[in-house]
Amino acid sequence: MDSLWFSDICGHHVSPFTMLDFDQSCHRKHGFSLENKLIFGRKLYKQALTIARVVSPSQLAIAPSPDKEPVDQDQNHVAWTSVKQERWEGELVVQGEIPLWLKGTYLRNGPGLWHIEDYNFRHLFDGYATLVKLHFEDGRLIAGHRQIESEAYKAAKKNKKICFREFSEVPKHENFMAYVGDLAKLFSGSSLTDNANTGVVKLGDGRVVCLTETQKGSLVIDPNSLETLGRFEYSDSLGGLIHSAHPIVTDAEFLTLLPDLLKPGYLVVRMEPGTNERKVIGRVNCSGGPAPGWVHSFPVTQHYVVVPEMPLRYCAQNLLRAEPTPLYKFEWHPQSKAFLHVMCKASGKVVTSVEVPLFVTFHFINAYEEEDEDGRVTSIIADCCEHHADTSILDQLRLKNLRFFKGEDVLPDARVGRFKIPLDGSRNGKLEAALEADEHGRGMDMCSINPAYLGKKYRYAYACGAQRPCHFPNTLTKLDFVEKKAKNWYDEGAVPSEPFFVARPGATEEDDGVVISLISEKNGGGYALLLDGSTFKEIARAKLPYGLPYGLHGCWVPKK
Ligand SMILES: [Fe+2]
Repeated sequence: MDSLWFSDICGHHVSPFTMLDFDQSCHRKHGFSLENKLIFGRKLYKQALTIARVVSPSQLAIAPSPDKEPVDQDQNHVAWTSVKQERWEGELVVQGEIPLWLKGTYLRNGPGLWHIEDYNFRHLFDGYATLVKLHFEDGRLIAGHRQIESEAYKAAKKNKKICFREFSEVPKHENFMAYVGDLAKLFSGSSLTDNANTGVVKLGDGRVVCLTETQKGSLVIDPNSLETLGRFEYSDSLGGLIHSAHPIVTDAEFLTLLPDLLKPGYLVVRMEPGTNERKVIGRVNCSGGPAPGWVHSFPVTQHYVVVPEMPLRYCAQNLLRAEPTPLYKFEWHPQSKAFLHVMCKASGKVVTSVEVPLFVTFHFINAYEEEDEDGRVTSIIADCCEHHADTSILDQLRLKNLRFFKGEDVLPDARVGRFKIPLDGSRNGKLEAALEADEHGRGMDMCSINPAYLGKKYRYAYACGAQRPCHFPNTLTKLDFVEKKAKNWYDEGAVPSEPFFVARPGATEEDDGVVISLISEKNGGGYALLLDGSTFKEIARAKLPYGLPYGLHGCWVPKK
C-alpha cells in the first residue's frame, strides 16, 4: 500500500524504518548534506503511516545531470545552486505550531536548474522551472518539489543542450544556416522557450497554471502531484508572443497585458473562469519610445487597470542576438520618458495618461482609488518595488554575481515607489517613497498583500528587504504604510524567498493571517517558515531534507 511508504530524496521507495540508513547512502552518492536525518527516521513513523498520497517508484527520477559544483557558503550558496533531483515529497517535522485553520497548499515557482550537462547558465531567470509545494493540514506540513516538464526542459534533457531561447541563453548553432533557421522560428515563436519558471496562479475555475513572459510558457499543473498536465492553450486569436508574467487573477477573472511590439502599445485583456479565451478590454498606445516598456507586472484598482510604460523597453534587435546584452531583451530609453496609463475596466477607455518620473520596477504591489467628499475618484495611488530608475539590478541578478558574494554591499538601493496619478486632466503624476527606505534596509522586492485588499486602499504589504552589507534582498519585511514603519525578519546568511500572505478565514483585520516563506540557508540547508502576519514573529518552521534553490512567486490553493 503506497500510503505506508515515504519517497526519499534520491527517488527510492523505502520504509520509514530504513530511511535513516538510506539517507546516509544518498549523502555519499550525491554529495549533498542531509542534516535532519532524524526527520526521516523512527521519530516520524506514526506520521508516515498517515501520509495519504505518495508517488510511486516508477514515477521517480534522478536528476538528469548531477551538479558537481560544491555548496560552499562563501562561494556558492545553495540558493544559487541547481536543485539536485527532479522530485521529492515527504512530511516535515514542525517546530512551533501551524495554525489549525491553515488548510491548503502554498505553491512556489522559480528557476531551479541552471545547467545542462557541463554548461552553466548565466542569469537567474534562465533556470528550468522548479515547482515547490507546502501542504498544510491539521497542523502538519507535507513538502515536495518537482521539475516542470516544459518542452524546453524535456528537449534540453534529451539532447543535452539548450534547444530554445531562454531569458538570456540561446541555442548554440552548428552552422550559419542553422542560425538563420532559428531566426525564422523566432518570428513564429516556435524557438521561444516555454520554460514556465516565473509564477503560478490558481484560476477561478480551479485550474493551476505556471507562467513566464512567453505566452507559450503557460503550463497547467496538478497542485497535488505537481505533475505537468500540458500547455494552457489560449483559444482566442489575439496572437502575440509575450505577455505580462504577473496577470491579476481573482476568482472572477484573469487580467493581463499583451505588449504590441509592432505598433507600440498594449492590449488589456480579460479571461473568464472556465474559458481559455481572452477578450480585449481596450488598447493603450505608447506615449513614447520605439517599443513598449517591459510590463513584468501591473496593478489594478477596483475600476481601473494601470498600464505602466517604463523607459526600460523591449528591444527586437536584442531578441535576435546570439549573446546577451547588458540589458538582455531590453533597452533603456530615458529620453523616451515614463508614463502611466489608466484604463476603465468597464469601458476600455483610457481615462488618463500621465508622464511620471523615470522608474524601474519588476513588481507592482497594489493600487487604489482616492475619492473626494462626494465619492468622485480624484486620483489613483499605485505602489511598486522601485529601483531608483537604475537598471543595474538586472546585471546584479547574473548568477556569477549572486554566487560570489565577498561581503561587499553591492545590492542597488530600492524603495516602495508610490505613484500618484491625478484624474483631473493633469499631464504629470508624482513618484515618491511611501516610507523611508532605511526602514527596510533600502532593499525592496518580491511583494505580497492580503488578496482581499487587491485594488483597494490598504495598509500592509510583505516583501523582501535588506540587512546590509548584502548582494541580494535577505530579509522578510512587513511594511506599514500608515505608521510608515517596517518590521524585519533576518537569519544571518540566509536567502528568503517571497513572503506570501495567507489570511485567516473570517479575519476582519488586514494583517490577521500568516506569512509563508522558504528559506535557503548558508550551510546548504533550508526550511519552510511561518510568521504571524500581525506581529511578524516566527510561529513555526520545518526543516527540509535538502536546501532548495531560490524561488520566485507563489500562490495559495485552499483545501476545499
Ligand atoms: Fe516577478
